[in-house]
Amino acid sequence: MLRLGLLGHPVAHSLSPAMHAFALESLGLEGTYEALDTPPEGLPERLAEARRAFRGVNLTLPLKEAALAHLDWISPEAKGIGAVNTVLRVEGRLFGFNTDAPGFLEALRAGGIPLRGPALVLGAGGAGRAVAFALKGAGLEVWVWNRTLERALALAEEFGLRAVPLERAREARLLINATRVGLEDPAASPLPAELFPEEGAAVDLVYRPLWTRFLREAKERGLKVQTGLPMLAWQGALAFRIWTGLFPDPSGMEEAARRALGEA
Ligand SMILES: NC(=O)c1ccc[n+]([C@@H]2O[C@H](COP(=O)([O-])OP(=O)(O)OC[C@H]3O[C@@H](n4cnc5c(N)ncnc54)[C@H](OP(=O)(O)O)[C@@H]3O)[C@@H](O)[C@H]2O)c1
Repeated sequence: MLRLGLLGHPVAHSLSPAMHAFALESLGLEGTYEALDTPPEGLPERLAEARRAFRGVNLTLPLKEAALAHLDWISPEAKGIGAVNTVLRVEGRLFGFNTDAPGFLEALRAGGIPLRGPALVLGAGGAGRAVAFALKGAGLEVWVWNRTLERALALAEEFGLRAVPLERAREARLLINATRVGLEDPAASPLPAELFPEEGAAVDLVYRPLWTRFLREAKERGLKVQTGLPMLAWQGALAFRIWTGLFPDPSGMEEAARRALGEA
C-alpha cells in the first residue's frame, strides 16, 4: 500500500489530497495521501515517521526550508532554491527534491504562456525564489521586486538577477505574482493597474481566489493570463512521478483541485 502525505502548517484546506486522490485512482494504485498538520517543532518527529512508514511526502509552508537539515540527500535544484517540497523514501533514506520550479515552467508551456523576458517576479519569499530560479534556468532575463527591498537585493545577488522598482513592470513581458497579496482578498493586488505592460503575460501563484485582482486587471489590459492552479497541479504530478515512476495527468489533477476549491 502506497502511503503518501503532506506536511505543513496549516494543511486543513490544502488542495493536494484531492489532487493526489485523483492521481492514485486514475492510475489504478491503492494508496493514501494524508494531510498531516506539522508545526515546525514537530518536523523531526514527522520525518522520522516518514522514514519508517511513507513512500514519500510533500512539504509546504513553513517547512520547505527547514527540512533541508533533516534529509540524507538533496537534489541540486532544491539546493539551489534552498527549499524542498517533495521527499522520497528509499530503504529508510530520505531524498529531497523541488518540483515547484519545474512545475511552474511546465505549467507555462502547457498553457501556451510565452517564455519571453524580461520576466518580473513580484515577491522574494519561497515561491519567488523557486520561480526566479526556474526562469533564470530557462535563460530569461529576470527582474525581481519585493516589498522588503533587502530581500530582493539579496535574491538578486544570489541568483544573478536585477532588483528593480515596481514601475519597471511596464517594460516586462512576463509578470509573476509570487507574493501573498490577493490571497483570500479579491480586492488586493501587488501591482497598480496602470503599471501593467501593453503586451505579454501575467501569472498569479495565488489560487484562492482563483481570479485575483492582479489577473483580472492583467486580462482587462489584454495580457495572456494563468491562474495558480496549473502550477499547483504540475508540481503535484512531478512529485507523484518521483514517488511512483508513473505520471498522472496534470489536467485531471487541476480539475480535482478546482473542484476542491469549489470552482468546478
Ligand atoms: N500555485 C502554486 O503552486 C504555489 C506554490 C507556492 C506558493 N504559492 C503561493 O505563493 C504565495 C507566496 O508563497 P511563499 O511560499 O513565497 O510565501 P512566503 O515565503 O511567506 O513569502 C511571502 C511573500 O509575500 C510578500 N508579501 C506579503 N505580504 C505583502 C504585502 N502586503 N505587500 C507586498 N508583499 C507582501 C512578502 O514580502 P516581504 O519579504 O516584504 O515580507 C514575500 O515576498 C502564497 O500565496 C502561496 O499560496 C503558490
